[in-house]
Amino acid sequence: MKALEIRNKYLNYFKNHNHKIIPSAPLIPENDPSVLFTTAGMQPLVPYLLGEKHPEGTRLTDFQKCLRTNDIEEVGDNRHLTYFEMLGNWSLGDYFKEESIAMSYEFLTKILEIPSEKISVTCFAGDDDCPRDTVTAKCWKDVGIPDERIYFYGKDENWWIAGEEGPCGPDTEMFYDTGKEPCSEDCQPSCNCGKYVEIWNNVFMEYLKKDGKYTKLSQKNVDTGLGLERMTMLLEGKETPFDTEIFKPIMDKLEILAKKDDIASRRIVAEHLRASIMIIADGGRPSNLDRGYILRRLIRRMTRHLNKLEIDLNELDNLIELNINILNDLYPELSKKKDVIKEVIIQEKDKFMKTLIRGEREFSKVINRIKDSGKDIIDSKDIFNLYETYGFPPEVSKDLAEENGVKVDMDEVDKLFKEHQEKSRLGSEQKFKGGLSGTSEKEIKYHTATHLLNAALKEIINKDVHQKGSNITEERMRFDFSCDHKLTDEEKNKAEDLVNKWIKEDLKVSVETMKKEDALKSGAECMFIEKYPDIVTVYSIGNISKELCGGPHVKHTGELGHFKIIKEEASSSGVRRIKAVLE
Ligand code: SER
Repeated sequence: MKALEIRNKYLNYFKNHNHKIIPSAPLIPENDPSVLFTTAGMQPLVPYLLGEKHPEGTRLTDFQKCLRTNDIEEVGDNRHLTYFEMLGNWSLGDYFKEESIAMSYEFLTKILEIPSEKISVTCFAGDDDCPRDTVTAKCWKDVGIPDERIYFYGKDENWWIAGEEGPCGPDTEMFYDTGKEPCSEDCQPSCNCGKYVEIWNNVFMEYLKKDGKYTKLSQKNVDTGLGLERMTMLLEGKETPFDTEIFKPIMDKLEILAKKDDIASRRIVAEHLRASIMIIADGGRPSNLDRGYILRRLIRRMTRHLNKLEIDLNELDNLIELNINILNDLYPELSKKKDVIKEVIIQEKDKFMKTLIRGEREFSKVINRIKDSGKDIIDSKDIFNLYETYGFPPEVSKDLAEENGVKVDMDEVDKLFKEHQEKSRLGSEQKFKGGLSGTSEKEIKYHTATHLLNAALKEIINKDVHQKGSNITEERMRFDFSCDHKLTDEEKNKAEDLVNKWIKEDLKVSVETMKKEDALKSGAECMFIEKYPDIVTVYSIGNISKELCGGPHVKHTGELGHFKIIKEEASSSGVRRIKAVLE
């Protein structure tokens, strides 16, 4: 079954069970610079899992574009992907375990026609924080899964939380039995031998983890995630996602073009090319920071492996074209962005080729130094430094060293890289922790202060001032807005005074849901109108501000404290930037 057919069947099934279909959020989270990429379907829905009212109701279904970057180095094996699509259905305080399990089972066995005997399930075994999930096990028995295919595991396997804190709960996972021989007498779903493949995860989100403690949320939610690429692989009867219609045409093309036979390199090129296309289409651009750096790494690694396969780099244009054609069924919007996607990838490839050439020059210097000193082994730190400073890949260093009769201790090099990776992994986890799931009271206050400042600037400068960006941390807010001049001291003082006046007035912050067109007609302000669904939430502050916004916000402006502008500067042409604090 094709991926698009699976996606359509999924959304239709849940639509027929009274779920509203909502659009995928972008891969790059909106207004949340603290998170690198959307990594799970639940991420854009965190405020609603925490109790905020969703404009489309309490039963939702969607497909969500996701990117997980912790395993970039693993791509090349037969299963790891960075970009993937997750199908999801959501109960926001509506149905719970029984209905969720009955629907999942019916969808798998009746709609996808997976034989019931091929399904095994896992449930939470229980601990001090949360009891054993016998309710879930009973629901599975009721639909027809026998005891011997119901397994219980602890938090390692059957508990879901995004990062360190936030909404979470026990989950139940569904596994597909590929029919392979068990690897041992004790072979079970938790085992990685490949007999069992996880196909769906239903999380019963009724807890909130904060400061290491679990409390009950105000509502019982269900968050489910079904990986589209994996399901396509199973239903097409393939061993790896690279053999499915999602990757096969590009894998075949690479095989024809390559002068060297290296399946891992072909997979890396195919996977990284697809992920890069998806990131660029959602506005990502290569840089040396955070998101931009991930994209840069993906394009560089892809280029390196194209080189390794001895594929003429001028083929990249055709490869991008082919990949966009393959993706067209699932993401028709890509074809409109073809030119910019090509431009960004090809420019970055060209830059990297210069890096490679420069790196080779630096490498010769290292080799000459070693030879002059009479040694016959290269210091691993030199290899690491060449990588860090010039982006020069260690495996190229290794090949060149050996060609020059110089030895390399690759274990030592790997160790240095592992240490480095561990540092970046911790960095990314910190990022996630800082995301919406961890929105603190202080950040919520800054969020409301942002709306006030926006309204104040409109009044003091002119009505054409619009928000161009925003970034909030625990310590300060940053607000970018359209304005053609540096603010005078008088303008800054007036803006500050007006915000503080509104704070003193303790204005009520209210939220309502309405049709997007009605919201716009009513004069509500918003940054990117096309990015909002047809039904939107609108936050109003007294009668001074009205904006389309996902929240969260304080209830009354009096909660904010004293507002102070600490800096006003240029951001880019025609855009000014204010940094401010609440004291
Ligand atoms: N949040 C869960 C996951 O990402 C289910 O959607 O697996």
